[in-house]
Amino acid sequence: MNNFELMLAPMEGHTNPAFREICYEKGADSTFTEMARISALARGNKSTLEKIKIPNPIPTYIQIVGANEKELEKFLQKFTPEKGFLGFNLNLGCPSPDMIQRGLGCALIKRISKVKKMVQTIRNHNYPVSIKLRLGMNAFEKEKKTYLNLINEVDADFFIVHARHGKEKNKDPADFSVYEECVKTNKVIIANGDITTKEQIASLKSIGIKGAMIGRAAVKNPAIFEELSK
Ligand SMILES: Cc1cc2nc3c(=O)[nH]c(=O)nc-3n(C[C@H](O)[C@H](O)[C@H](O)COP(=O)(O)O)c2cc1C
Repeated sequence: MNNFELMLAPMEGHTNPAFREICYEKGADSTFTEMARISALARGNKSTLEKIKIPNPIPTYIQIVGANEKELEKFLQKFTPEKGFLGFNLNLGCPSPDMIQRGLGCALIKRISKVKKMVQTIRNHNYPVSIKLRLGMNAFEKEKKTYLNLINEVDADFFIVHARHGKEKNKDPADFSVYEECVKTNKVIIANGDITTKEQIASLKSIGIKGAMIGRAAVKNPAIFEELSK
């Protein structure tokens, strides 16, 4: 990882190989595939396997979503990393009711022992593993600092903190005030949510954040990576 890493966020319907390549050429240090369901990968579902392909060898993390370590193991036994593959990223941020009902996405933030098992399953195969999380499933979980428990307890290479809880919409402002306490855990923290300016990047760097993940602003203008790294 660079001194300060600029990452393209995983975005369903956007972060296909062509878009990832454009953002990489425009200065993103690393990119993410959109989330792929572990259960579908384990079944060998063709369209899901397509989502995690890395046809152009640019630095790419594969994002996966799910909570069944047996299915994860089944998939990993068949998985062969392509050139450009940097590691797996576990999605603990998806707020869709369908995911939450099944204890997945941001409902996983409080299921620490389950997340530890998922991380260990990936580590057993010697692949790097990171986590992308929200601040909790709702305001109550944010208040209880569920996200800090998870960051403290789980041994992942880095944590991308999307500074909203699961009930907040993208139009609700991201809460930049949480990053300082995240950094105090001494884990590697990447900030995400509403990052669009060099001033924000400078302020994140000054408190010890190790990278910024950019989503919607990159869809509007992939050259944002060049602008932010100048
Ligand atoms: C259209 C769309 C699709 C998304 N798909 C995913 C996804 O597959 N996995 C994920 O972790 N987050 C997903 N997100 C959330 C983004 O990765 C990011 O956390 C969010 O947009 C906040 O960052 P931003 O303010 O820079 O856009 C998606 C967001 C959008 C707008």
